[in-house]
Amino acid sequence: MTTFLIVSIWFIVAFLVHFFIKKYLKSHKRVDEPPSPLALPIIGHLHLIGSVLPKSFQTLAQVYGPLMKIRLGASTCVVVSNAAVAKEIFKTQELNFSSRPEFGSSEHFIYRGSRFVTAQYGDYWRFMKKLCMTRLLAVPQLDKFIDVREEEKIKLVESVMRCCKEGRPCDLSSELTTLTNNTICRMAMSTRCSGKCDEAQEIKELVHTCLMLAGKLSLGDVLGPLKVFDFSGTGKKLVGALTKYDQLVERIMKEHEDKASNFSQGEKKDLMDILLETSRDPTAELKLSRKDIKSFLLDLFFAGTDTSSSAMQWAMGELINNIKAFKKLREEINTVVGSKGLVKESDVQNLPYLRAVIRETLRLHPSAPLIIRECAEDCNVNGCLVKAKTRVLVNVYAVMRDPESYTNPDEFMPERFLESSNEKIGEHQMEFKGQNFRYLPFGSGRRGCPGASLGMLIMHAAVGSLVQCFDWKVKEGEEVDLSPGSGFAAEMARPLVCYPIEHVNSP
Ligand code: HEM
Repeated sequence: MTTFLIVSIWFIVAFLVHFFIKKYLKSHKRVDEPPSPLALPIIGHLHLIGSVLPKSFQTLAQVYGPLMKIRLGASTCVVVSNAAVAKEIFKTQELNFSSRPEFGSSEHFIYRGSRFVTAQYGDYWRFMKKLCMTRLLAVPQLDKFIDVREEEKIKLVESVMRCCKEGRPCDLSSELTTLTNNTICRMAMSTRCSGKCDEAQEIKELVHTCLMLAGKLSLGDVLGPLKVFDFSGTGKKLVGALTKYDQLVERIMKEHEDKASNFSQGEKKDLMDILLETSRDPTAELKLSRKDIKSFLLDLFFAGTDTSSSAMQWAMGELINNIKAFKKLREEINTVVGSKGLVKESDVQNLPYLRAVIRETLRLHPSAPLIIRECAEDCNVNGCLVKAKTRVLVNVYAVMRDPESYTNPDEFMPERFLESSNEKIGEHQMEFKGQNFRYLPFGSGRRGCPGASLGMLIMHAAVGSLVQCFDWKVKEGEEVDLSPGSGFAAEMARPLVCYPIEHVNSP
């Protein structure tokens, strides 16, 4: 009996010891941070980075894997480089990665605290996102402005035609930025209010200046504590440009308010009208301030103009260099649209090759190659510890050129997006909605791009019309230089300047 008791007690004690040791080890199990190259003092990994950031990260990922920790001067981030880890960030742990960190330029933003693009995932962001999806950028609102987009596309073709007739080179970078800026400007706050047509041009210049200065200030992130001295006065210049934008939009806003009292039934409301209406709504979950409205519209200009314009430049550059693809697209347009008029938005559903060209362009040249998010709480990604507040950069440039996901990933092959392709990334695969994690030009999940449909509408019709109406030459025998520019943006290193030649059958 005593022996039995001793053996039983021994078993129970052994079991308890084993249980508690296991529990202790489990709770104290060391999960390592993501792998990282050897860092140098102060500069971290800056010496490993070339002029094209996403490309440098892609090269490093080939050694350090799909999740690596990188330190650029004073700023540390983790970089994601394949579809499986991107899925963890965008889907499996979506809520934990639904905020964005503030950028280097944030402290100089006069609208700090009202920004949508950099907002933390919370009440303000949720309210604005709902407004975007149900009203501002929803299909019925986009449909109301189809005539504006059509007019701006015609203006683009006319302007290129003038270059053609005068035998001058055409700066497509500038033409396409004018197209996107004018379109978004008119949809956002119709220049109709004051009747002055130079307002859109003023906005274009201010947005360009702000983006350029904000880009410079991002370098401040790298300099860390030194940035407070702002040696070159960039911060002051940014405040100056933003103040000018503020005064201009305040004037347009007052004109909208004056008009609001005598809106006739069925009259087309632009985005500012809707935002002002929401700000007056006593039942709204959140009270929008004037600052919120001006800031939101600025975010739309920042996020919508250069992204769409740069994607169209890449599409034209690729098509000019790939004569077979150009001819195939021209043939498709000739067959479906003929010479009855320019390619219209309503034609696009019958132009699968045009859709494939735009999708392939966005795969090779994503307008936002590094999608930036922030981790809310410590978590485990790809078996590594990612600490709260860590900046996460999803390198969609690398994800969309991964040889595991695409055959000949660096080649421009629109055919891969046709339903008949063996690559099975056709439209039925939901790739456009960010549900296929090897194709992410618009990001994914709740924080994905709310302007994707608008961007696609503008790009298809404009690129289709430029191919329909003109043949394109660079300089005698030269190809378009398709080198990517430096920094975070995904623009071409050199502006796309070429010679349009009127196509004999152009409408
Ligand atoms: C070729 C065109 C475009 C591309 C490639 C593009 C791409 C992107 C990407 C990658 C993001 C980040 C998504 C994420 O974090 O998952 C984004 C966010 C955003 N985009 Fe676009 N975009 C385009 C056009 C537009 C247009 C036309 C608008 C509106 C006029 C727009 C408005 C926005 C806004 C407001 C955000 C921030 C969303 C948030 O933080 O919740 N974009 N875009």
